[in-house]
Amino acid sequence: LGLKHRNSFGLDSIAELAYEISSAEQLPPLMQELSDQKLAWRVLGGGSNVILPDALPGATLLINILGQEVIKSNEQSTWLAVGAGVNWHELVAWTLEHHLPGFENLALIPGTVGAAPIQNIGAYGLEIGEYIDNIEAFDSAAHAFVTLPQEACRFAYRDSYFKQNPNRLIVTKVVFKIPKAWQARLQYADLAKQFANTNTNTNSTPTAKQIFDAVCAIRSMKLPDPKVIGNAGSFFQNPIVDKEQHQRLIEQFPNIVSYPDTTGKRKLAAGWLIDQCGFKGKRVGAVGVYENQALVLVNHGGGTSADILNLAERIQTEVLDKFGVELEIEPNIL
Ligand code: EPU
Repeated sequence: LGLKHRNSFGLDSIAELAYEISSAEQLPPLMQELSDQKLAWRVLGGGSNVILPDALPGATLLINILGQEVIKSNEQSTWLAVGAGVNWHELVAWTLEHHLPGFENLALIPGTVGAAPIQNIGAYGLEIGEYIDNIEAFDSAAHAFVTLPQEACRFAYRDSYFKQNPNRLIVTKVVFKIPKAWQARLQYADLAKQFANTNTNTNSTPTAKQIFDAVCAIRSMKLPDPKVIGNAGSFFQNPIVDKEQHQRLIEQFPNIVSYPDTTGKRKLAAGWLIDQCGFKGKRVGAVGVYENQALVLVNHGGGTSADILNLAERIQTEVLDKFGVELEIEPNIL
């Protein structure tokens, strides 16, 4: 099966065997068969955070488990169970239509609900791990379904237990716990600015729908639409450095952009570092660096995973030479 239209980078990749999983019940017999035949396997969700090779040997599981329903509610919270194959952005829109605000800062993030906890998707001051109550997954090592409560998921910045144990757990369902007491989150400068401009004469807080619309507008301006230009969002993580290294960097580069990290360290804006090395808008053959956001690598058409990884290595080398900071690739390299 050709996967060109199933990965946001638009890479031409051929899956030797592809299985569409529309119900969790398909997994135990299929995984038994793959194990008996000693076939390699991997999961593909929305394909928006992966770099696919030209050929994927063995089995590729396309997760298409759908459905969302409120399963419990009390005075404080609502529990929402969602199939791993549901489109993330459509779920965010659905929650707002059903008066379950909370996810609006994460509007327009491409990909599926099942993929969201793997890298703990986050944007504009919110990470999804915070709202996850538990996750149901098929554990290929134990050959059984398991339920992981939030603590077991070990969520951290762009990280989780799932990411640290690749190819072990296949997420089938995510249960969210959404607090009923809603509060707008506007700490992130870009988002705060949006409302400062439009609401100069009032100090009323915006609604969740207004935040949703603002996030959609900011993302559309800064990030390329994968339907138009292939990309996987931020290509590198924002590197975290200790206070001493941050201090040394500020002395040398007074304009360096950084944020406080939850652990007391500093998170540097990788986009700024790459931008300073002159990569923004640069094109190398079929691939390049996006003109409006240096943290995003793009496939202008016909690029391969090797082209992308070569460019990534050049960027990593130059950033390391100039700033002494190592950039870690964010999407999964399959
Ligand atoms: N900057 C530059 N030049 C650039 C890009 C950025 O100077 O070309 C500087 C600017 O000062 C800007 C700052 O870097 O204000 C931060 O940029 P931006 O607000 O675009 O956020 P980011 O740190 O680059 C992170 C996430 C995004 C997320 C945004 C908003 C990571 C790796 N990326 O990007 O997530 O949408 O914050 O919260 O943490 C993704 O993971 O795919 C993704 C898009």
